[in-house]
Amino acid sequence: MCGIVGYIGHQDTIEILLKGLEKLEYRGYDSAGIAVRNQDGIHIFKEKGRIADLRGIVDQSVEAKTGIGHTRWATHGVPSKENAHPHQSASGRFTLVHNGVIENYEQLKREYLLDVALVSDTDTEIIVQLIDLFSKEGMETEEAFRKTLGMLKGSYALALLDSEAAETIFVAKNKSPLLVGLGDDFNVVASDAMAMLQVTDEYVELMDKEMVIVTKDSVAIKKLDGTAVTRDSYKAELDASDIEKGTYPHYMLKEIDEQPLVTRKIVQAYQNESGELAIDDKIAKAMDEADRLYIVACGTSYHAGLVGKQYIENMAKIPVEVHVASEFVYNMPLLSEKPLFIFISQSGETADSRAVLVKVKEMGYKALTITNAPGSTLSREADYTMLLHAGPEIAVASTKAYTAQISVLAILAGVTAKARGIELDFDLVKELGIAANAMEVLCDAKEEMEQIASEYLATTRNCFFIGRSVDFYVGLEGALKLKEISYIQAEGFAGGELKHGTIALIEDGTPVIALATQESVNLSIRGNVKEVAARGANPCVISMKGLESESDRFVLPEVHKLLTPLVSVIPFQLISYYAALHRECDVDKPRNLAKSVTVE
Ligand code: M6R
Repeated sequence: MCGIVGYIGHQDTIEILLKGLEKLEYRGYDSAGIAVRNQDGIHIFKEKGRIADLRGIVDQSVEAKTGIGHTRWATHGVPSKENAHPHQSASGRFTLVHNGVIENYEQLKREYLLDVALVSDTDTEIIVQLIDLFSKEGMETEEAFRKTLGMLKGSYALALLDSEAAETIFVAKNKSPLLVGLGDDFNVVASDAMAMLQVTDEYVELMDKEMVIVTKDSVAIKKLDGTAVTRDSYKAELDASDIEKGTYPHYMLKEIDEQPLVTRKIVQAYQNESGELAIDDKIAKAMDEADRLYIVACGTSYHAGLVGKQYIENMAKIPVEVHVASEFVYNMPLLSEKPLFIFISQSGETADSRAVLVKVKEMGYKALTITNAPGSTLSREADYTMLLHAGPEIAVASTKAYTAQISVLAILAGVTAKARGIELDFDLVKELGIAANAMEVLCDAKEEMEQIASEYLATTRNCFFIGRSVDFYVGLEGALKLKEISYIQAEGFAGGELKHGTIALIEDGTPVIALATQESVNLSIRGNVKEVAARGANPCVISMKGLESESDRFVLPEVHKLLTPLVSVIPFQLISYYAALHRECDVDKPRNLAKSVTVE
């Protein structure tokens, strides 16, 4: 979603801002802009479209020491130059970028700004106009900023320039992520450390309802009541090469290929000195004490949660419910007596999941976050964290985070089982190793997957994924992957549900991708394949070695029956990737989507 950068120092401000915005492109956006301040005032450049379009209109000859930049993912008002950030106040004095949603902006407009001619449809413009209004009433900028912040309901990460304040960026945060980066004779602001890794790896986290006055050699953090806050900085443990594509044409392909390595890294990270899988004792205790687990997540992470339910119930024998965060928050089920909440989130910043976390913490419950982002909001605000160790995932379509989530959930389930005195009848470390090897084999099967994509998906308008048991869950993920990057309407169904309605959609040639990795349901899923084939569908069966039939399109290497999602998802990821390529879609940055969904 929207991304913010800011720079104040002596280097080439415009280039630093543009490069920073390029690093934030992965979050998803539809327009972008920068504003820089120099002795002549504030210069704004903004454009609908990509950063490359913005580069085309920026006047590189403008020299400036201070600037802010923004990528916008439209919420209020269509993607357009007018609605793109930065927004400027009517007097031209203040210029602002914003990430988040201001819920009471209509009310603020009615109460304070009826006389101001607004030039955009955004909620953001209200903020900058209010600051202007209060400053015209005689307040210093800091005071006007603080007063405005006190009136805002909703989420915000803000960076503000004042044409009359010498080399200063005013910053504030509530619910939306924002960091201040520290340098030698310069400082930066960024939604994500990745954006400014080019200039610094030292960052200070901001907490909700804090504001910061940033100059090139000072960073003053304050609460909204003006109380000064001191906080240590930390080193962002990111390797600049982790966020480069290298020789790959797309991040998505690189991240698919990284999956076997990530699985091995996770096993290592959770092994103790004697090679046994281990987790923080406090997490094992909280799991053991819970009478029911509630997994809460969105999108791909929700799909991983469904697999996690199978693991925990099978291995650790604790009942689990899995919920979509955006539903759970408004429609909470009756909770058990001793619930434990598990949040799964690659980014650790997803607003829907965070809203649930805030609510259950208010209710006094404990929460565990499983995330790829140490220090993220969901990690900080939960009682416990388990990390994915997947390295930065840049492509909007989540791939390596999904398999990492599944590996971590398997480890959580296995270790909890042991803590509860339940002996597993298999060696989880060994089986995860076998799965990692099988994942490698699948990553090498790109030609076959490209062939399947061109045979089944090159021209189709829809596609169904069917499976039973855990294969149904992987089918849901396959369908999400295909639709989000190729725009083919794709849905996942439980094989047995077809005859209750969905089969009406089957026409001549409709591709139906069926997964058959579970012996217990092998005959029944094959029955479902026959049902759709009899109605004209073009079935593509992907099965597991040992369960295959002659007509199957692809056979997966054999892995433990609980770990099949780690391997069966890879063909779906690759098929989706090649289908998107065939259709000339922007694989890494699909339309309308954002990587980090920081608004509810
Ligand atoms: O960062 P999170 O795991 O919380 O994100 C949740 C979803 O937004 C995310 O998985 C989304 O569905 C992906 N684009 C799917 O590829």
